[in-house]
Amino acid sequence: MAFSPRVFSGIQPSGDLHLGNYLGAIRRFVPLQDTHETIYCVVDMHAITVWQEPNALRRATREVAAAFIAAGVDPKRSIVFNQSQVMQHAELAWVFNCVARIGWMNRMTQFKDKAGKNSENVSLGLLAYPSLMAADILLYKATAVPVGDDQKQHLELTRDIAAKFNNDYAASIVEQGLDPDFFPITEPLIAGPATRIMSLRDGTKKMSKSDPSDQSRISLLDDADAISKKIKKATTDPAELPVEVEGLKGRPEADNLVGIYAALSDKTKTEVLAEFGGHGWGKFKPALADLAVAQLAPMAGEMRRLIEDTTTIDAILRDGGERAAALAEKTMHDVRRIVGFIR
Ligand code: TRP
Repeated sequence: MAFSPRVFSGIQPSGDLHLGNYLGAIRRFVPLQDTHETIYCVVDMHAITVWQEPNALRRATREVAAAFIAAGVDPKRSIVFNQSQVMQHAELAWVFNCVARIGWMNRMTQFKDKAGKNSENVSLGLLAYPSLMAADILLYKATAVPVGDDQKQHLELTRDIAAKFNNDYAASIVEQGLDPDFFPITEPLIAGPATRIMSLRDGTKKMSKSDPSDQSRISLLDDADAISKKIKKATTDPAELPVEVEGLKGRPEADNLVGIYAALSDKTKTEVLAEFGGHGWGKFKPALADLAVAQLAPMAGEMRRLIEDTTTIDAILRDGGERAAALAEKTMHDVRRIVGFIR
């Protein structure tokens, strides 16, 4: 059976969205609306795998929803909601906790990084995180999932869970008269390396909300002045820009800024260097600052306006939640029968 092309992606509301989240994920959500049925989720249940102050969680949830909409996600064409409104996510995640193996979870590099030496003392939810993520995706039988390359391993695990469920319950699936390929094998839509945005202070580190330096990242809420200053103060080497992409090798800061220019202007790095190669930072940085301000400052303004208007944002999330729940319940209804739960 062919599954209709459906996209699902999720962003954690853990505060302080930045340019990396925008170029690596949120911006890519917009054109998919033309070709796919699109479901975009603020994954608040994932967020609480590490401690979140409740009021900060509410604020961050609205911030992510506002970013989706300010970036061009249309809440009428797409389903935009926060995960915890649709209880079927938790319900399917429990079933998947019983399908997945502990060994699979222990091998997840994101878990190992987040738990560090403290793996006995992190939440059980942090270990089970990928099983909830598989539930997010498979509840909607999504066939394509746009994510950054750090999520590749979690998507492979989603495929493993889908395959093991289809296999373990093969007889029951047939007995219930359902398609033997009950869950689809999801394709990742991994962002290319050009959308891996690095710190403005150190081109070898990813732009991150946990970097102590505010100068290292452009927040999606920064105003024109802040955006422009951060770009003009970004760390660079003294050489002028190369004329060819090869010349960016071993120059992480130059590579990052050219990459940001390319992403924001929908050009290739080659095209950017055709324009700026051989010139110094005195020409490139102001051009990049103007470009970034033109694109990001209006979005920041719209985000700030939406975040204040909690009635509108909450109504969008509620409407999205109802539409999501209707789809989710179809899958869960079948899953309960397949597993052997009486209702
Ligand atoms: N784990 C993802 C991240 O940290 C967020 C996420 C949760 C997600 N559920 C998802 C992404 C489902 C894609 C699909 O970025």
